[in-house]
Amino acid sequence: TQSTGLADKLQPPFFIAHRGGAARYPEHSMEAYDADAKAGFPIEQDVQLLKDGTPVIIHDSTADRTMTGHGKVKDLTLAQWEKMRIKPIKPGGKPVKPLQLKEVLDKFGGKHLLVPEIKSKDAKNALIESIVKRDLQRDVIVQSFYYEAAVAAAAKDIPTLWLSSDAPSDDKFKAAKSDGITYWGYDESLPPDAVKRAVHAGLKPVAWTVNTVGDARRQFKAGAVGVFTNNPWKLSKAHYG
Ligand code: G3P
Ligand code: CA
Repeated sequence: TQSTGLADKLQPPFFIAHRGGAARYPEHSMEAYDADAKAGFPIEQDVQLLKDGTPVIIHDSTADRTMTGHGKVKDLTLAQWEKMRIKPIKPGGKPVKPLQLKEVLDKFGGKHLLVPEIKSKDAKNALIESIVKRDLQRDVIVQSFYYEAAVAAAAKDIPTLWLSSDAPSDDKFKAAKSDGITYWGYDESLPPDAVKRAVHAGLKPVAWTVNTVGDARRQFKAGAVGVFTNNPWKLSKAHYG
């Protein structure tokens, strides 16, 4: 097992390309990921399973909003997924192929920092096994709203970001730290006091989804080490004191 990797080199302030950088490219498209890799931004993936257990990259639990097809992701066959395309976000744009987790790991693994999220609970084992099989434990940051999923990744020596919608208690922050979790992901609307308490417990706060320079400044000042943003190109150009 590698002892250090891309995740260990990450320096604050950092800008994770949320859904690949959805301000400029179709969500989770290879076009988005290529642009992120070129610019050196950590790239987010939302990971869910198809009906046959294939891990794929899509945010919503249904195909309807972002894809040319319809239906619940967990009910789609691989053949249906392969036939669907990601809708363009600009008039006249071409629909593009959706991505499987393995395509992303094979292309970027060990070369660019990936930040996959265990989006559906049942994707936990497939995601962790895919990372361990490729010896990419230190080249990714695994995130999840499911605490047990985050702890399971941490147990494999994978740097882990636990997401929560509410402000956890000090005891919960302390438990997360002692369970091996490195980062705490939080909604930018939570009070700065929660960010300070996370830092005090030894966690590194990362805010989502931060899309203006002013909002990023506020989060870094409160103690965030990084942000998820739809526009890392814009936010990374600003100065943060
Ligand atoms: O994973 C961080 C952030 O993306 C959480 O919100 O709904 O965009 O996955 P969501
Ligand atoms: Ca996400």
